[in-house]
Amino acid sequence: MDLTTDYLGLTLRNPLIASASPLSNTVDGVRRLAHAGVGAVVLYSLFEEQLRREAAENARLAEVGTEVFAEALSYFPAEAEAEAAQDGTADEPSPRRYLSLLERAAAAVEVPVIGSINGVTPGGWTSYARAMQDAGAAAIELNIYYIPGDPHITGREVEQRHIDILCQVKGAVTVPVAVKLSPHFSSAGEMALRLDEAGADGLVLFNRFLQPDIDPETLAVMSDVYLSSPAEARLPRTWISILRKHLRASLAATTGVEGPADVIKYLLAGADAVMTASALIRHGPGHAAVLLDGLSEWIARKGYPSVAAVRGMLALPADTDQVAYERAGYVSAMRAANSSRGPW
Ligand SMILES: Cc1cc2nc3c(=O)[nH]c(=O)nc-3n(C[C@H](O)[C@H](O)[C@H](O)COP(=O)(O)O)c2cc1C
Repeated sequence: MDLTTDYLGLTLRNPLIASASPLSNTVDGVRRLAHAGVGAVVLYSLFEEQLRREAAENARLAEVGTEVFAEALSYFPAEAEAEAAQDGTADEPSPRRYLSLLERAAAAVEVPVIGSINGVTPGGWTSYARAMQDAGAAAIELNIYYIPGDPHITGREVEQRHIDILCQVKGAVTVPVAVKLSPHFSSAGEMALRLDEAGADGLVLFNRFLQPDIDPETLAVMSDVYLSSPAEARLPRTWISILRKHLRASLAATTGVEGPADVIKYLLAGADAVMTASALIRHGPGHAAVLLDGLSEWIARKGYPSVAAVRGMLALPADTDQVAYERAGYVSAMRAANSSRGPW
């Protein structure tokens, strides 16, 4: 059974990728994920705010310039680590710690290890992306977690920010670059096309925003991370199916994979790779083997020769009248819902 897939120009042994999560914050964790069978691992993200803080700290302690951030990393003095231990930030992923993990993880496993940057501004990304490449990252994932909280920012400005970040990083590295983006654009499809045209090697659909909750008893705002459910896969799956025939870039699905059926549905919609985090956190890294066994069993039972034969089978044809298609689906779904006697 041929489970191989092409993602970002890399040949993966299968389409299942462990997406960025705390499971990949140690070499042992990465090893466990690879041992369970995943085709690639994305390391947890390094945050730009943290880079800036630590770059400033570097400069202060070592009295060296931070013009080239990667270079500055090599000057990172032991005192800074001691200070980090003292001020309680030792457990945070410092750039040096991150690069060391990346280097050791890439050497420890046979599958590609992808570095992830979670940035804010166009300028902050490039030197660190280069440092990740030098440390052995097979590819870079740009986790563009940007909430335009200022109501005066226009949609076009937000979109341009994404393009600028991508172009800057593409100009700085030779490894493939994927963009993990949000679904919250006026036209998510056009944003995807623009990123494709600007040279993205892959798009990861979609970033899952942390949406704070409110506790009415304590009047506290809670920004806890919650694990996903399969119903949340419908949004990225719909967009993957719409975009598949329009893009040159690879497409990775992220959100809502719980069982093998969720992996299969993403592949049918047109994903080149399917990422999972919540399910692996919930059930342990060994759950990757359950997902892959289920995928193999389904492919064999249906009589297909490979993942390639399945991928995109239910993607929308490029010449579909998208507006009419969406409208027809919406109207028939609403008609059925309104005429049935449900529990609502
Ligand atoms: C605890 C936790 C930590 C995460 N950390 C990161 C991160 O560092 N960078 C990132 O891009 N995504 C991060 N994510 C998002 C996941 O990579 C993934 O895109 C998202 O959870 C949706 O996939 P899932 O439904 O399989 O969990 C995190 C998710 C969880 C649950």
